[in-house]
Amino acid sequence: MSQVTLKIEEGIACISVVRPEALNALNREIVDEMDQLLDQVEKDDSARCLIFYSEKNFAAGADIKAMAECDEEGAKAFAFSPVYNKIADLPLPTIAAIEGYALGGGMELAMTCDIRIAGESAKMGFPEVTLGIFPGAGGTIRVPRAVGEAFAKELIFTGDAVSAQRALQMGLVNRVTADTDVYAEAEKMAKRIAKRGPVAIRMVKEVIRRGLEEPDQNRAIEIEAEQWARLFTTYDQKEGMKAFIEKRKPRFENR
Ligand code: HXC
Repeated sequence: MSQVTLKIEEGIACISVVRPEALNALNREIVDEMDQLLDQVEKDDSARCLIFYSEKNFAAGADIKAMAECDEEGAKAFAFSPVYNKIADLPLPTIAAIEGYALGGGMELAMTCDIRIAGESAKMGFPEVTLGIFPGAGGTIRVPRAVGEAFAKELIFTGDAVSAQRALQMGLVNRVTADTDVYAEAEKMAKRIAKRGPVAIRMVKEVIRRGLEEPDQNRAIEIEAEQWARLFTTYDQKEGMKAFIEKRKPRFENR
């Protein structure tokens, strides 16, 4: 039976893990299912934003029982990174809506998203070192980039989970809401994003990624300038500016 669901409604896609008996711990099958659903999201022209949300618990990590007996080759085969990289590179904004536990590979999934929203009693962290391993699905790369080296090392070396408020202070999450409002808050933000110029959103996500990866700042600024100017060849730029001048809402056409 499928343990991952996808719905796409009014331009907002949502992927959820449904494995409550294991606090939504992620295994190979779940991540492979996610991979296929990502293709569906990418193919759907109406999708403007993707939310990852799972009821009660975001995900209590990768499935320890499935990993426990792995040898080195088995661990390589279990790795989530190819799918996680695909999420990070999706051409539409992604939001992690975090309820309950987001640990280990679960929190690494949240780190692949552009934005994180947490419920006030969420618990987030990287307990891998308590198991004799370290985060291996992008955590050692994405966490320092998100919160800086010192907080990243504190989180990863201690393995301690942090509260939503502490995560907010560190910059691990963008905002904290009441537990009951996590999905609604993510959906509200997704709907705001969905109203913006879709070509600009798609391009700016790519420009930000390339800028962060580009060691030469002048080159990064050149890339920004090139892509920015390219927007002036699009219908949506003409429509967006015309709508402003005519004092009406823009009708973007994603072209
Ligand atoms: C497998 C898990 C699990 C996990 C919970 N469960 N987390 N099963 N893998 N990561 C299962 C438990 O075995 C149990 O099932 C059921 O979910 C409920 O969990 P309890 O422990 O009874 O709940 P509770 O006492 O409330 O404690 C919650 C918890 C604890 C603090 C979150 O479950 C916990 O510490 N889980 C492990 C968290 C963790 O270390 N995650 C990182 C994994 S390593 P049964 O059937 O036994 O009752 C990782 C590496 C990523 O993520 C690398 C990517 C490839």
